[in-house]
Amino acid sequence: SVVVIDFGGQYNQLIARRIRECSVYSELLPPSVSVEELSQKNLKGIVFSGGPNSVFAPNAPNIDPRVYELGVPILGICYGMQLIAKQFAAKVERDHIREYGRANLLVEEDACQLFASLPREQGVWMSHSDVVREVPAGFRVDAVTPSGTIAAMSRADRQLYAVQFHPEVRHTDEGMALLSNFLFKICGCRGDWTMDSLIDGAIAQIREQVGGAKVLCALSGGVDSSVAAALVHRAIGSQLTAVFVDHGLLRAGESEAVMNTLGGQLGIDVIRVDASERFLGKLQDVRDPERKRKIIGEEFIRVFEAESERLGPFDFLVQGTLYTDVIESGTATAATIKSHHNVGGLPEDMKFQVIEPLRELFKDEVRALGEALGLPSSLVWRQPFPGPGLAIRIIGAVTPERLAIVRDSDAILREEIAKAGLERAVWQYFTVLTGVQSVGVMGDERTYAHTIAIRAVVSQEGMTADWARLPYEVLERISTRIVNEVRSVNRVVYDITSKPPATIEWE
Ligand code: XMP
Repeated sequence: SVVVIDFGGQYNQLIARRIRECSVYSELLPPSVSVEELSQKNLKGIVFSGGPNSVFAPNAPNIDPRVYELGVPILGICYGMQLIAKQFAAKVERDHIREYGRANLLVEEDACQLFASLPREQGVWMSHSDVVREVPAGFRVDAVTPSGTIAAMSRADRQLYAVQFHPEVRHTDEGMALLSNFLFKICGCRGDWTMDSLIDGAIAQIREQVGGAKVLCALSGGVDSSVAAALVHRAIGSQLTAVFVDHGLLRAGESEAVMNTLGGQLGIDVIRVDASERFLGKLQDVRDPERKRKIIGEEFIRVFEAESERLGPFDFLVQGTLYTDVIESGTATAATIKSHHNVGGLPEDMKFQVIEPLRELFKDEVRALGEALGLPSSLVWRQPFPGPGLAIRIIGAVTPERLAIVRDSDAILREEIAKAGLERAVWQYFTVLTGVQSVGVMGDERTYAHTIAIRAVVSQEGMTADWARLPYEVLERISTRIVNEVRSVNRVVYDITSKPPATIEWE
């Protein structure tokens, strides 16, 4: 396998994931990992990731320099490149201009194997403020940007390679080709890792973790919890009990649809718990997005604890937590963007041990896993829906009236997207009650009513996203229907922000 040393960048797991896309197993490890541990892993390669720090910051993460003696090829990316440069005593400087966004890469003649068969000029994604001014002794410059910044360097005799840009993001034209060159030309990987090996590994791990204990699984009807449940069910069969909690924050018709189809699709009995009053009671007058998320995360656990008393006891709780949930909720090295209900929203006194077989994966990998497990595509390709539900699509307080407005407008949007045949083309689409009221005129009367925003995005895995270019006619139909059919809405706007700088959900 190839490990990625995690120096805290938002895209680090994406590096591991791109490596898995090349059918090579990859996982993230913290910089504190010992060289002894690394040497036992039979590694083909090591990647040093990007990170938010300057290598000059007093507490900047480091790695034991003995890693360079392992004889394993190393690829440094961004922070990783600066770290290699610093550890080999090169000149690294804080730059006066931050380079952020797309840049033109000029590859030197006879550049190293990373650039084998790649064009001499290519677009790459940069995001850094430190620069390597001079490469360390024995290294060569492989590529520069037009401003003369050193963008890639290598020292082939020590198998050290480094790039200043981010090959893992889609905005880097030849990113995948560069990573493939590292894996296959430099590390000599075979590329025979598959989803089936992932399933086998996960099943063995779950069996070992659980033993003969009883396990409770939290189902939402969505892709992640369903795939997690199917996987755990395959591992431990009837030791698993599945519970679907209706928190009253679901979309129109969702609770019924889940109960009618999910159990059959998964081959598991599903128990429904109506907890809508509990959740809505707890959310009364709560306006702050993070508080909403924490309340919902905690309330889920309280409901599971109650069910555990009724049906259990259970020692373990299965959750369909994805890597996106983990990284955005904040880690030791990464900042908190928002507390996903199943990570940052968990209460500290929780009694369950958590089983999260998807914790390292991205949404599209989970979909591929679901297909490999034989789940129907109607389930695997459902659009993502966040655990906190419609509560985070209502800016301000969550009330039954305001829920009805998002629910009804969302139903219209979903219907029109389906009619237009765009369900698979758009990653996620929903409406938001913006909390803004504005003046309108309806039937010769002045109105002062709510503004609904339409949010529709395309994405690979939810880490980055672009707003969907929905056809104007489709937008027009949605807007007309929402204003005509949803009470107290007189204006519809379209959110045309990408992620970053926005996020997909509004809260
Ligand atoms: P953001 O809004 O952070 O969302 O760009 C990225 C993806 O994650 C979903 N999301 C969540 N999913 N629990 C979840 O299960 C949560 O608390 C949560 N918050 C956001 C969001 O719908 C999008 O697909």
